[in-house]
Amino acid sequence: MSTTEIHPNVKRVIFTEKEIKERVSELGRQISQDYKDSKNLVLVGILKGSFIFMSDLVRSIHLPNTNVTSEFMSISSYGAETSSSGVIRIMMDLRTSIEGKDVLIIEDIVDSGLTLKHLMELLNHRNPNSLHTAVLLRKKEGLKVDVPVKYMGFDIPMVFIIGYGLDFAENYRELPYLGELKEECYKK
Ligand code: IMP
Ligand code: MG
Repeated sequence: MSTTEIHPNVKRVIFTEKEIKERVSELGRQISQDYKDSKNLVLVGILKGSFIFMSDLVRSIHLPNTNVTSEFMSISSYGAETSSSGVIRIMMDLRTSIEGKDVLIIEDIVDSGLTLKHLMELLNHRNPNSLHTAVLLRKKEGLKVDVPVKYMGFDIPMVFIIGYGLDFAENYRELPYLGELKEECYKK
């Protein structure tokens, strides 16, 4: 695909495929370094938004002496709205115990931080050995609660982002870059 073929509902490309790839590889290197003495690392991808980020990130993690497993959870947040309600529902839970294991939550984007904060509290109750987060994007000005992000892809302005797994009303996840959605597509 030519990178000049931008979807008509995208106002501008925020990060290109190449920029994302480089940043994700760097995060993978950091994670590999930090967890080299871990016995069990459970990567918990939050569906659906993190599926592409997760698939690239896991392939950048090299931990030959660790049991590395990939698990998924699904939580509902926005529906077709563009701002967080703070109401979170677990649609699909983990199928395995995380007790005594090192857990890394993999999330697409942090806006208010409510989703991630809630999720961290929930998983902490299951007594992991450690619990950290890897987040592709963070809207710093959107933060309403303090939530620790250990591995951060990019800080971004308060615009609505689509592509690379992120959606608006379930659309655009397939775009290989991260783009800003045109305002006329969500403001009525
Ligand atoms: P928070 O609870 O406000 O931090 O919202 C986080 C969740 O909202 C993310 O997991 C996304 O599903 C969604 N979200 C927030 N901002 C965006 C965006 O710009 N594009 C797509 N989804 C977003
Ligand atoms: Mg999400």
